[in-house]
Amino acid sequence: MNENLFKNLYDELIKLWKNNTSLSSFVKLPENLNFKDLPPNYIKPAMKLSNWETNSEKNITIHNLVKELSPKISWKQTYSAEDIGKKFLENFCYFELIGPEGYFFSNEMSVYLIYFDKNTFYTWHNHEAEEIYFVLSGNAKFESIGDTPEILSSNQSRFHKSFQPHSLSTEKEMCLSLVVWRDKLGSEVSVVKI
Ligand SMILES: [Fe+2]
Repeated sequence: MNENLFKNLYDELIKLWKNNTSLSSFVKLPENLNFKDLPPNYIKPAMKLSNWETNSEKNITIHNLVKELSPKISWKQTYSAEDIGKKFLENFCYFELIGPEGYFFSNEMSVYLIYFDKNTFYTWHNHEAEEIYFVLSGNAKFESIGDTPEILSSNQSRFHKSFQPHSLSTEKEMCLSLVVWRDKLGSEVSVVKI
């Protein structure tokens, strides 16, 4: 049951990669990865996602699959309240679908799905891994040093260079996004002062 839903999600990503050059030109998505279940970790921010009816038709299958799977997902937060603030930890969560510690093992790339509630500020941070965000539903404002800030919604993406500080904020809408890494998969994510 779990396995089928996760596989459906993986299949949807394979389709997404075929239709989006921003994703496929960033990194190839491996197509025959084995499933490994992970212990569920249903945390409070993920429960907010469960009540979210997206008003966009784009990626609605993925959006609804994540909602359906949410209670079974091994959600993570990584940061401590001292590093990032208690409020942020009430409004954010993510999980690794593909990658060294994901449901589908790969050493070539990682795909995370990340959720932000409304009115949330994800503070400035960086990491060695090169990264692309690809918004699935909702929207968020993306800022990164050296680039013009922009608000991205469904199917829009943004690249972050190695160690380029970046931040993200939501206002009136939530945001569900892919985060894809193509190298340095074990990179540590560090909060940076700007
Ligand atoms: Fe990042």
